[in-house]
Amino acid sequence: MNYEEMIKFAEKASENAYVPYSKFPVGACLLTENGNIYTGCNFENSSFGLTICAERNTAGTAIANGDKSFRAIAIFSPKMDNCTPCGACRQVLNEFKSHEGLDVITNTSDGIKVYSIEELLPQSFVL
Ligand code: THU
Repeated sequence: MNYEEMIKFAEKASENAYVPYSKFPVGACLLTENGNIYTGCNFENSSFGLTICAERNTAGTAIANGDKSFRAIAIFSPKMDNCTPCGACRQVLNEFKSHEGLDVITNTSDGIKVYSIEELLPQSFVL
């Protein structure tokens, strides 16, 4: 699957977002090293701090399926161009980057943008 197709899958996943508070749907499409694809969306809670971002929801699904090496993740929000992951999600994604790296793909009115996780989270904390 190419990166443009991954954005389309992320867009579709954003339709399932549960966002009664922010009204800011986000979808993600994750490609793992062994070629599997996972999608997910954000879901909020009346106790606001319990909100789970699309990226971490999707990462959790991959991990639950035994896929812990992430090659690329596409993110889409109908409300924002170039919707990059929040700081917490950057840290979580960094934990599972593949040996070949992890590309973070966003959508803009000019087409897709591709970032490396190192670009989005320089000097990251790792144990
Ligand atoms: N959100 C995501 O799901 N991913 C991002 O990259 C940015 C923020 C969610 C959290 C919350 O449900 C809503 O977007 C507004 O912050």
